[in-house]
This record gives sequence, structure tokens and C-alpha cells, in this order.
Amino acid sequence: MKVVLAKNAGFCGGVKRAVKLANENAGYGVCCLGDLVHNDFVVNELKSKGVKVVESIEGIKDSKVIIRSHGVHKSIRDKIKENNNEIIDCVCKKVSIIYDIVAENYKKGYNVIIIGNKDHPEVIGINSYCNDSALIVEDAKDLENLPEGKLIVVSQTTNNEENFKKLINLIKDISKDEVLVYNTICSATKNRQNSALELSKEVDVMIVLGGKKSSNTKKLFEVSKLNCKNVYLIESIKDFDYNILKKFNKIGITAGASTPDSVIKEAVSSMENFGNNEMMEAIESSFKRV
Ligand code: F3S
Repeated sequence: MKVVLAKNAGFCGGVKRAVKLANENAGYGVCCLGDLVHNDFVVNELKSKGVKVVESIEGIKDSKVIIRSHGVHKSIRDKIKENNNEIIDCVCKKVSIIYDIVAENYKKGYNVIIIGNKDHPEVIGINSYCNDSALIVEDAKDLENLPEGKLIVVSQTTNNEENFKKLINLIKDISKDEVLVYNTICSATKNRQNSALELSKEVDVMIVLGGKKSSNTKKLFEVSKLNCKNVYLIESIKDFDYNILKKFNKIGITAGASTPDSVIKEAVSSMENFGNNEMMEAIESSFKRV
């Protein structure tokens, strides 16, 4: 049995930094505004160090507050500071760059268009850097409300490249004015999907490691299914019935951007050990037969 790990898998740079920063500042009296990442291992580790997960900053004073990698609305950030809290800023650099692009061009008189999901905290945060004036575009239907005048277009970092390009072309067709485009899609997501896609072509079974609530993990599951009939999404190798693997020769493993290295290493070594044990059992039983 051969176990192959996808070329790009697990923590992206932004999540790695966020987890490191949060752990360095973890302790009693520290709050995290929502789960740091969609991964129970990471969240539970911080909880065990005293970090409390809160859904709102109401009533939180004189504390340390962790802001997650995809950011928050500017008004929440202001409120955290007003209440004499210290911000542990885990916002990914790739997201804060979008804040700067939006703020700068909004000041110059551009109308802001964000291609992304209206309800996603990252999009809500970006929109706050142009006074919540952006048109948020999820699909072509939303372009009916495209404003007149010069436009600047940015994307949610986890967007799909094809969808972004398609919408940009439509915007350029409709608009009579200047359209300034910033492709702010993060390559980490795309690299993980491409690696999963490639690996799934050459293995008998794919194991996708990641939180059930993690959208990038779910995407890896879907992408893997395009080429491989046997795909399993699990949070940890502990949840998995190894017997399923008996009939397969080559196993591929990939992991979402919020899956820690420890979970990946445990899965790889457990499967390799399982493969070796299987081989030992087969050798032993063939000796018995002789
Ligand atoms: Fe940042 Fe990209 Fe990860 S935006 S949090 S490096 S997926």
C-alpha cells in the first residue's frame, strides 16, 4: 500500500500566522471573536489555554481580543479599542491589502465592486473600508445594479478564478467608464485544489482531512471526486475505519487550509503503518498455509 500526500495541503500562510499569533497570546482573559479557524483541534487547543470564543464583543473590556484571519467590519475593530481591549490582529496580510486598495480608490472617487459572498465576514470587512457602499456581486444577476462612473473591482480571497473572470468580462461590457480590476484571489486555495485534482487522478482512494464546517475542505472533497470514485472527508484519522482501505493499493491524502500539520502527519503515518501491518499479516498467513 502506498500513501501519497498532495503537494499543497494543510495550513496556508495566513492560517499558520494566525494560529501562531493566537497561541503566543493565549491565556485566561483572552477572547477570540468566533472560532479562529474551522478546525476543532485548533479551537480546542486554544480553549485549553484559556481562550474564550465569543460571538459578540458586547461587554468585553480590558481584555485581549483575537481577530480572525478573514477580518471583521471596521466598526467592530473600533469598538474593541474603545472598550480598552488590546487587538491580537490575525487578519491575513492578503486580506488587509484589499482593505488598503479599497480605501485608497474609494477616496479617489471610484465605486467599489466586491465579487464574493454577501454574508461572508471577509466581504463584510472589506466593504467597511468604503463606508459599506460597495456593490457585492455573487453572480451575473447582481450586475443589474452596477453603478455608473468609474469602478474598482476586487475579489473575496477564496473566490473561484473562472467565476471572477466571467464577471469581470460582463462588468467591462456593461460599464461605460473606467474599470480598474484587482485580482485579489489568494493562490493558496487554488494550489490546494489543483494538487488535489492532480493526485486524485493517480490514486485509488482520496482522504480529505479537515473540519466539516470548512468550505475550502469541502471544495477539496468535491474536486477530488471529479477523478476518483472513493473519496472520504474526515476530521482526523481517529474517525476512520481502516478496513475500508484494504482493497486499495494507492491512497492519496489532502487537507484543508485550516488542518494542522500534526493531524496530517498522524494520518500519513497511521496509514503507512496500517499498510505495513497488512503486509505482515499477509506474509504470516501465507507461511501458515505452507
Ligand atoms: Fe490568507 Fe489565503 Fe490563507 S487569504 S488566510 S493565505 S487562504
